[in-house]
Amino acid sequence: MTMPIKSICCLGAGYVGGPTMAMIAAKCPHIKVTVADMNEQRVAAWNSDTLPVYEPGLDAIVASALGRNLHFTTDIRSAIAGADLIFVSVGTPTKSYGIGAGRAADLRYIESAARLIAEVSEGHKIIVEKSTIPVKTATAIKSILAANSPNGATFQVLSNPEFLAEGTAVEDLQSPDRILIGGEITPEGNAAVEALVSVYANWIPRERILTTNLWSSELSKLVANAFLAQRISSINSISALCEATGADVDEVARAIGMDSRIGPKFLKASVGFGGSCFQKDLLNLVYLCESFNLPQVAKYWRQVVQLNDWQKSRFVEKIVRTLYNTVNGKRIAILGFAFKKDTNDTRESPAIQVCRDLLHERAHLAIYDPRVSAETIHQDLIAAGVSPELIATNMEICSDPYTAIKGAHALATLTEWDEFRTLDLPRVYGLMLKPAFVFDGRAVLSLESLVAHGFEAFVIGKGL
Ligand code: NAD
Ligand code: UGA
Repeated sequence: MTMPIKSICCLGAGYVGGPTMAMIAAKCPHIKVTVADMNEQRVAAWNSDTLPVYEPGLDAIVASALGRNLHFTTDIRSAIAGADLIFVSVGTPTKSYGIGAGRAADLRYIESAARLIAEVSEGHKIIVEKSTIPVKTATAIKSILAANSPNGATFQVLSNPEFLAEGTAVEDLQSPDRILIGGEITPEGNAAVEALVSVYANWIPRERILTTNLWSSELSKLVANAFLAQRISSINSISALCEATGADVDEVARAIGMDSRIGPKFLKASVGFGGSCFQKDLLNLVYLCESFNLPQVAKYWRQVVQLNDWQKSRFVEKIVRTLYNTVNGKRIAILGFAFKKDTNDTRESPAIQVCRDLLHERAHLAIYDPRVSAETIHQDLIAAGVSPELIATNMEICSDPYTAIKGAHALATLTEWDEFRTLDLPRVYGLMLKPAFVFDGRAVLSLESLVAHGFEAFVIGKGL
């Protein structure tokens, strides 16, 4: 018989835990959903009018359930104790120390969450891996739970990776391509899988809820991100060839994307992919392959990351070479700092590397992003190795694009915010020093139109 889920808890109120639990609460008013995090500031923000995550449509979803059956708390122990089913949605960053540094996933937050669950739990609970983790992590979680339960609690561990993309999280949660649930192939495992299926079945058609064994589910998440990132590196590699030959990468993408076997999505050339997950998950996959003694497979996937790094550095090189081999003291307007539009997230944003390298070339950067705070930009660049002194002397944050552009030698677009598509080009040209150079790393501007307005223009993937 399927165990009815009446109370859910989620450990981690981040980009995934917050929106995902808000959607579950909104769609399942009969289930109490408690999101627990030790980060007091984050929890307070979820309970306020200014959510910690910017996502179109999220405010309304949270407001519809907050205080009714959706709660955000720092009382992690009580949240665990009161739940039938516990999602673990904590961070799994790339390990920065010791064995596997720079590649393996750092599982310390997963492990401490598992230890706390074991310590606090009584009775039977379903534990769901929501975080992205290396294949076989469920084994580690199971053994921690089994060895540390003073109250004799029993557990079933499921894998239920999240496929939402930032900026479209609400849409993705409302109507996902699929929900993937992996469990142990035993009667108890099947019952736990069915219990979770019944939660999602409140709003997702059954045929889109896929169930597999644990390892297939864990691995599919890494593989999905690896394939998506690979498509971007593939089209970015072709963007360089287009620039060299006079082809247009958007035309090539359209032509190949109309082949139904290839498909049109994820073929937009850019200054490089960013975000908290693609690089981390690719490196994690590489590390797994190496651990399982598959160096050829590891090398194949590593190349996707290497191409991405090259794409970012060749963009900087293009700027420096075009500006007569020096940007020292030159004002460069940077439009966009988030890793993609419609989010305030800057994790692994290509803008970080591009700005860092331009600052190290002694450029003067005037940065504008409609959603990212000055504080975040400062922190990101300091973490990337830019000195506070260089930031103080060579960087300013602007509150609108035209202020950033005023008196600039060049402008570079690094995020595809819609508002950049409709920049007033005659006004931009009038504000800039001449020749007025544009480097469009997101192909949001039309090369023909830029040239017609008098700019010296470079648009990623467009040969002149
Ligand atoms: P995040 O850093 O925004 O949030 C993680 C939160 O977990 C933090 O607020 C932290 O304080 C909290 N936390 C850590 N240990 C805890 C504990 N023991 N108890 C309670 N809270 C704890 O991370 P995120 O972006 O939400 O990502 C979470 C996971 O989901 C990662 O594995 C990531 O790879 C995966 N993922 C992320 C996305 C995305 O779009 N960001 C999409 C799919 C999957
Ligand atoms: C990605 C996946 O799309 C999600 O399915 C997955 O759940 C998530 O990672 C995760 O595991 O964290 P996300 O990183 O939020 O989602 O955003 P994407 O839309 O995938 O964009 C990632 C990066 O690729 C961005 O920098 C974006 O600008 C870039 N991109 C995307 C391109 O350069 N070209 C494209 O055609 C698409």
